[in-house]
Amino acid sequence: MNGKRLLLIVSGGIAAYKSLELIRRLRERGAAVRCVLTAGGAQFVTPLSLAALTEEKVHCELFSLTDESEMGHIQLSRSADLLVVAPASADILAKMAHGLADDLASTVLLATDTPVLVAPAMNVRMWQHPATRANLALLEQRGVHRVGPNEGDMACGEYGPGRMAEPDEIVAAISGLLEPGSGRLAGRRAVVTSGPTHEPIDPVRYIANRSSGKQGHAIAAALARLGAETHLVTGPTIEPDPPGVAVSHVVTARDMLAACEAALPADIAVCAAAVADWRAATEAEQKVKKRGKAPPELKLVENPDILATLSAAGNRRPALVVGFAAETESVVKHAQAKLAKKGCDWIVANDVSAGSGTFGGDANTVHLIRADGVEDWPSMSKQAVGDRLAAAIADHLDGSRS
Ligand code: C5P
Repeated sequence: MNGKRLLLIVSGGIAAYKSLELIRRLRERGAAVRCVLTAGGAQFVTPLSLAALTEEKVHCELFSLTDESEMGHIQLSRSADLLVVAPASADILAKMAHGLADDLASTVLLATDTPVLVAPAMNVRMWQHPATRANLALLEQRGVHRVGPNEGDMACGEYGPGRMAEPDEIVAAISGLLEPGSGRLAGRRAVVTSGPTHEPIDPVRYIANRSSGKQGHAIAAALARLGAETHLVTGPTIEPDPPGVAVSHVVTARDMLAACEAALPADIAVCAAAVADWRAATEAEQKVKKRGKAPPELKLVENPDILATLSAAGNRRPALVVGFAAETESVVKHAQAKLAKKGCDWIVANDVSAGSGTFGGDANTVHLIRADGVEDWPSMSKQAVGDRLAAAIADHLDGSRS
């Protein structure tokens, strides 16, 4: 990042304290950082802290005679290689989406043609509100980049998505934008499956499972952070699309297989989806009615196995195919058997027995199973599992490249 110029806009939110650490990490990497602090942001960090860390004047006022004579807001917005809004409050995202310009930060954001990265941070209800979702969709459509938010305990005492991404993740996102192709997986293509599949019985009923898609989405995000051109094929989930990842939304196992095959060739395939093993042999055109006393019989047929199909894709087979094994007992033993049966290279085995909290939870305890041994990983967040798996994949491909 040597010599790169960043304009960091700090808006109001408790996560603003992490922006101080972000500045330090950016400066360690040789970037020059200037700050714009909103009135809300100034409730959480002081201009003096930002000035001390950036060794630059901090800009707060839109109508400041001194600032306009030294560096006008237009010049401020154009003299940077990237604008980073961290934390990005619901309010500033709304202003950006609708073109409001009633303070220095929003004016700079409207006056710029420089790429913008936002690191949202807000209460979980604000993050999930349809207004915020719509604002973000609009911004992403216009090419605004996003990192996070993460899920976890929030300063307001609630739990859920809304925590600002950690400084290291923001630095990685910035580096991905400013120095594309610099990551360890640059030049590699990855396909990741995530979430459940829904297999229709009739127009209103379907067969599904409890997969949330969190782990698969975290893996796709981690691969993209390392520079892989990543294609995520996801079943129905409420997880937001990870930034910097191409996403295909599918419903059934057959759609998921077709989308994966369309995404080939790839160097890496990670099948983290909980694909329904069976589907109804026929899908009723109309809602099945209660008739007589006997319940209707449901005839099932087997779904295609996406992992096994990709593992046996001949010259289109990705160089590294990773499967998952969700087990409720003898986790490692069953996963080792699965490695052989599916023909994949690695299996990430996790315990989904009742009480493990894996399904829908934020943490995961996994074992990485390869032909030559088993690594037991400590319990960590699904995001950390994604990062560690992406790093292991990069190590493996580095080894096979040399
Ligand atoms: O056989 P089982 O469902 O336990 O295998 C789990 C692994 O196989 C996961 O990686 C899952 O994504 C993959 N799988 C698949 N297609 C299926 C069933 C499972 O890709 N139809």
